[in-house]
Amino acid sequence: MVFPLGRPSSVTGEIPRTNPLGPRWLRPCHSSVLLLILQRGNKMEVVKELRECLHIIFTVQFWRMAVLWTLALVFSYLKLFSQTILLQKSKRYSRRSPKDCISASAPVTRPVCIITGATSGLGAAAAYALSKEGFYVVLAGRSSELISKVTSDIKRRNNDACVKAFQVDITSFESILKFKSSLQQWLLDSNMHSSVQLLINNAGILATSRRLTSEGYDEMITSNYIGAFCLTKVLLPLLENSPSPSRVVNVTSFTHWSVQSMQVDRGTMKCFSKSKCYPFARIYEYSKLCLLLFSYELHRQVGQMEKSHKLSVVAVDPGAVKTNIMREIPSSISQMSYIVLKILGLLQSPENAVCSILDAALAPPEISGVYFFGGNGRTLNSSALSYDVRLSTDLWDTSCNLFREFHLAVKDTST
Ligand SMILES: NC(=O)c1ccc[n+]([C@@H]2O[C@H](COP(=O)([O-])OP(=O)(O)OC[C@H]3O[C@@H](n4cnc5c(N)ncnc54)[C@H](OP(=O)(O)O)[C@@H]3O)[C@@H](O)[C@H]2O)c1
Repeated sequence: MVFPLGRPSSVTGEIPRTNPLGPRWLRPCHSSVLLLILQRGNKMEVVKELRECLHIIFTVQFWRMAVLWTLALVFSYLKLFSQTILLQKSKRYSRRSPKDCISASAPVTRPVCIITGATSGLGAAAAYALSKEGFYVVLAGRSSELISKVTSDIKRRNNDACVKAFQVDITSFESILKFKSSLQQWLLDSNMHSSVQLLINNAGILATSRRLTSEGYDEMITSNYIGAFCLTKVLLPLLENSPSPSRVVNVTSFTHWSVQSMQVDRGTMKCFSKSKCYPFARIYEYSKLCLLLFSYELHRQVGQMEKSHKLSVVAVDPGAVKTNIMREIPSSISQMSYIVLKILGLLQSPENAVCSILDAALAPPEISGVYFFGGNGRTLNSSALSYDVRLSTDLWDTSCNLFREFHLAVKDTST
């Protein structure tokens, strides 16, 4: 469980108002530990939390995450600063209203936007923001209870919102196929054009233990990359069928900078490493780099197609955001990391960070194959490895083979 920062003392009524626990900036950390003790009220729980903290602190992966990811984030902002202020070389793209891209005679009156992982954090914030922009927002989430909650929340905050929810588990190919057929049926039943204008591959996890999907692949790689690849492939005909320009937005991360070399074969996707300790930080970085390589490769491939002017592909990095992404990390550690990031001025709320996602979603239709970072429509060059064409074609081939394998497996079970 993650405790919100600076939770008021009135929650428990037992913490004194004048806090004698050192400097102001450290107080949230003290109070979160105190609240942990008071709220759990159980010594065993506290001991368990402490044991989990110690267990994770003494891993290489924790220090990789704490040091390399912070450096990668600082490096990204410095790069942005030098490009924008010093070199005046930064490319910025202004947003266009989705309605401007639709001609009066077009069969689509309200563009359809699909967002995966719309039940929490950035996905939920983006769903609300895009409903305000006039999209028909399709929420894709794995928990029906959470999607209904987000749907009612959006409708409560935006009376004009058009929202439709579907249950999809991005790690299951069968679930992705079911989603596509339900989506097509819904478009048909609602007398809407059989097309999609925007797909935002946002769902992702930071898993701290090794788990396999029903198809036998690493769950974190599947949630963060393979699922997005398969969903995009499955929805490509609907995106290409759009009478107005359509777009794929992949939500990636600055952590990709930490990858120095990589393998993109099937074995690596199944079991990234045979070591006893699950290298969660390395796998997260790897999966986010895969998503970038995929974005650039898809951009190249659609550029060679006849309808190239219609479909664009962009990647977006929201920076460090206070969401539920660290839910598998002990709460005291995630709280501490948020405090450090806040002190460094690097932490954003989902409502602020969603600006980058909106920049990517609403950039002019001809913009494709770029990496949005830092808000205000700004873009950056991602790591050199992410532009390695050989690597991206190898990844594409491996992913297409997996896609075929999943298709065959689903056909076999349905016959
Ligand atoms: N937060 C950051 O600092 C940060 C920085 C860079 C990039 N990102 C990326 O931003 C994206 C959104 O993350 P967030 O920070 O908003 O985290 P979050 O609050 O944990 O949201 C992640 C979302 O993904 C969904 N999801 C996970 N596995 C899924 C599955 N198998 N099928 C369908 N949905 C699934 C979650 O659904 P449930 O609610 O059901 O779990 C949740 O809605 C992720 O791709 C993340 O890697 C985040």
